[in-house]
Amino acid sequence: MSKETFDSTRFNKSTNKPFEEVLDANLSRRNVLKGGLGISAMTAFGAFGLSGCNSSSSSIPAGNGSGVSSAMLNFDSIPGSLTDAVSVPQGYIAQVLVPWGTPLNAQGSAWKDDGSNTSDEQLNALGMHHDGMHFFPLNDRTTDGLLCINHEYIDSMALHPSGPTVESGVRTVVDEVRKEINAHGVSVVRIQLEDNMWKLVDTDPLNRRYTGATTMDLSGPVAHTAHTVTRFSPDGSQARGTLNNCGNGFTPWGTYLTCEENWPGYFVNAGVRTEEQDRIGVDDKSTRYLWDTLAGNTEERLDEFTRFNVEPTGASSMDDYRNEANGHGYIVEIDPYTQNSRAKKRTALGRFRHEGCTFGKLEKGQPVVFYSGHDSRFEYLYKFESAASWDPADANPSNRLATGDKYMDEGTLYVARFNEDSSGTWLPLDLNSITLAGGTLADHFNSLAEIIINTAGAADLVGATPMDRPEWCTVDPYTGSVYLTLTNNTKRTSETNAANPRLNNKFGHVIRWDEGEAATDFTWDIFLFGSPANGDTDINRSGLTDLNQFASPDGLAFDARGILWIQTDNGADEVTGYTNDQMLAVVPSKLTDEDGNQAVITKDNQAELKRFFVGPNGCEVTGFTISPDYKSLFVNIQHPGNWPYSDNAAEETPSGMSVRPRAATVVIRREDGGEIAV
Ligand code: FEO
Ligand code: CA
Ligand code: CA
Ligand code: CA
Repeated sequence: MSKETFDSTRFNKSTNKPFEEVLDANLSRRNVLKGGLGISAMTAFGAFGLSGCNSSSSSIPAGNGSGVSSAMLNFDSIPGSLTDAVSVPQGYIAQVLVPWGTPLNAQGSAWKDDGSNTSDEQLNALGMHHDGMHFFPLNDRTTDGLLCINHEYIDSMALHPSGPTVESGVRTVVDEVRKEINAHGVSVVRIQLEDNMWKLVDTDPLNRRYTGATTMDLSGPVAHTAHTVTRFSPDGSQARGTLNNCGNGFTPWGTYLTCEENWPGYFVNAGVRTEEQDRIGVDDKSTRYLWDTLAGNTEERLDEFTRFNVEPTGASSMDDYRNEANGHGYIVEIDPYTQNSRAKKRTALGRFRHEGCTFGKLEKGQPVVFYSGHDSRFEYLYKFESAASWDPADANPSNRLATGDKYMDEGTLYVARFNEDSSGTWLPLDLNSITLAGGTLADHFNSLAEIIINTAGAADLVGATPMDRPEWCTVDPYTGSVYLTLTNNTKRTSETNAANPRLNNKFGHVIRWDEGEAATDFTWDIFLFGSPANGDTDINRSGLTDLNQFASPDGLAFDARGILWIQTDNGADEVTGYTNDQMLAVVPSKLTDEDGNQAVITKDNQAELKRFFVGPNGCEVTGFTISPDYKSLFVNIQHPGNWPYSDNAAEETPSGMSVRPRAATVVIRREDGGEIAV
């Protein structure tokens, strides 16, 4: 079940309608796609970033490089579930790992089930509402590594003994607000497998937190500009904190990417909002958790609360926080392997509500590309292409963040236009870009930094395609095709387009594309439509049954064996009456039509899409990573209602009992210790 954590306002007021005609429900457009789905075995494996000096050689998958995975899903699709427990297939076990509040270090106080831990204790413990994550192996082992976990937002009722203290619309308890800020951000924890259970390595020097207040460096075109000057950072080089970290990515050089999604709601400008603040949705009345209302409190340190109010109050930007929000809305790079390394905000990849960030297929001598969706209704899909060409030696760098500087600070940002004929165009966003009105972006912006600050506004001007809430992207290691979840859009009441073909899109879909010869060209089709099993033929276009019906696809990840994992964050009653949020699996490269082209899911092959996991009541299932030996699969349970009851994630909270709910990672293993899913 979805908890909307953001304003459902349609922020995109542009009238982009690249095409208005609704295509008939021609499910397979692959006939226009070229064959030759070539991604070499080596680049495919490299694409999964199991590289660097801490890489594990046993992570090299047994792919055949032919463009078709050999993985066979060897489990029975499980039925839906509506309990305070997780469900896994027969023969699998599910362990609760590092729930919210787990201390990182021995000096940390244990999590207290009455919500009374302090802000300092929260600073030394796992944050709340786990989301994207990635496992980075250590010492060439598959049973020892660093888990980086995003903490998207908070349940302030569960965080405190009896919810937040608010008097007349104003926060009054400083430690409560600091605790909330500290429950946001990212955790890096060392974990090891011992006696068939994963455990956090207490007091490991690499255990650490990045919170909503941690000082971070800005990098790329917006850094060191007038746009980011604040009283805290007079040279515009730094920002404080990372907020609403939703999906994630990782890089070929062994770093973690955390994505700032619904950050605008943490800031307020009750005066005259700038054009970009209006476009992105910075609030004009209040902030989500009212942190700004503690501004001026006698206990306030370094404007820690004042900074959330971005209305100009001083003589210049050096005297106030008018630019504070300009330090947010980015892809943030973290080097998990280096203690005390500072996070870097990679502004070249655009500023919007980033859901995730995924690199495309790697080829020596070619640019590195990253994809990222803007998750809001009628927003866009973006691609960043590095100016530097990929050098495989950079998979093993001595300085990972310097390698990030090389590939992520200079390049071209594009936004996607999905054409009616299954072709697509990446529209560059720079001063020379041609606008729909026939001018250039230079008519509207003075610099690349200005374009990036208002990325969505620039994308409006060049005619990008408004999508049904772009969420996670992932790349098929066998075919190089890129897949993207479009979670839902119930406000699409009159303007369908070929890539978003259903009005009142309650159930969402998964689109995919292949890059063309030119950096600006691609071809696309729709792989899968969410639907209840009893949806009519216009709704249930993929022919789903009870054993795979789903709605609101969100988390999405290929593992290196070519298995695509689809996670849901569902708010559609038609499916929530049957099952809680879930994770399904399918091997797309094995689905081909009579011509050998990649096929989409239809009623004829839908049984290949199998339900592998169901979460507890109230939760969303999000975040995916798998150990290099494929024997431990990690997913996150976010905002559960009444769970977990014990270390066994599949143990149901007894009827009539209430536990303080805790987001947690769930590790799924096979009872016989074998590879997951096959
Ligand atoms: Fe945080 Fe778009 O899900
Ligand atoms: Ca999500
Ligand atoms: Ca979602
Ligand atoms: Ca979420």
